Amino acid sequence: MKKAFKLKNIIIAIVLVLLLIQFIRIDKTNPIADPGLDYFSIVQAPQEIETLIKNSCYDCHSNQTVYPWYSNLAPVSWIIKSHVKEGRQHVNFSEWGNYPAGRRGHKNDACKEMIEKKEMPIKPYLLMHPEARLSEDQYAKLVSWFTNE
Ligand code: HEC
Repeated sequence: MKKAFKLKNIIIAIVLVLLLIQFIRIDKTNPIADPGLDYFSIVQAPQEIETLIKNSCYDCHSNQTVYPWYSNLAPVSWIIKSHVKEGRQHVNFSEWGNYPAGRRGHKNDACKEMIEKKEMPIKPYLLMHPEARLSEDQYAKLVSWFTNE
């Protein structure tokens, strides 16, 4: 009986914490995306490549993030926010025009490597975004795109 009472308290505590953390909201305002600086206004990519990269990478690597409904739920929201923040720090396709040539080359190679190893898009994202999943053929097309760029 006593044990059950304790368990009940623990559950109440967890529920309270979950409710309280909902007040810690994330900032979902996208930084301004200048179309002139966007990757696709700088490189001449085929439409298919553009669609693939926009569908699979732009939520974390651009200033055009589309936040899903569950990004309103803490603590999932905090994880999503940190992925977007970190993603943009590594590669931001919306700010490609601001990178000097050397850095573009480096980021291009990093993209190739990440796709080749299938490390991008990250697994938890793919789980929730079936539309961003890439087929073998699509991975190969992107690798070849970043190899020849
Ligand atoms: C759900 C968010 C998300 C998506 C979608 C995503 N990434 Fe990332 N990306 C990250 C995060 C977070 C990091 C930094 C941490 C890491 O390396 O795992 C990162 C890092 C990178 C890096 C830097 C790696 C390094 O070691 O410097 C490259 C390049 C990259 N991503 C390319 C891509 C490409 C290309 C796509 C689309 C095919 C993509 N990412 C899709 C979140 C994402």
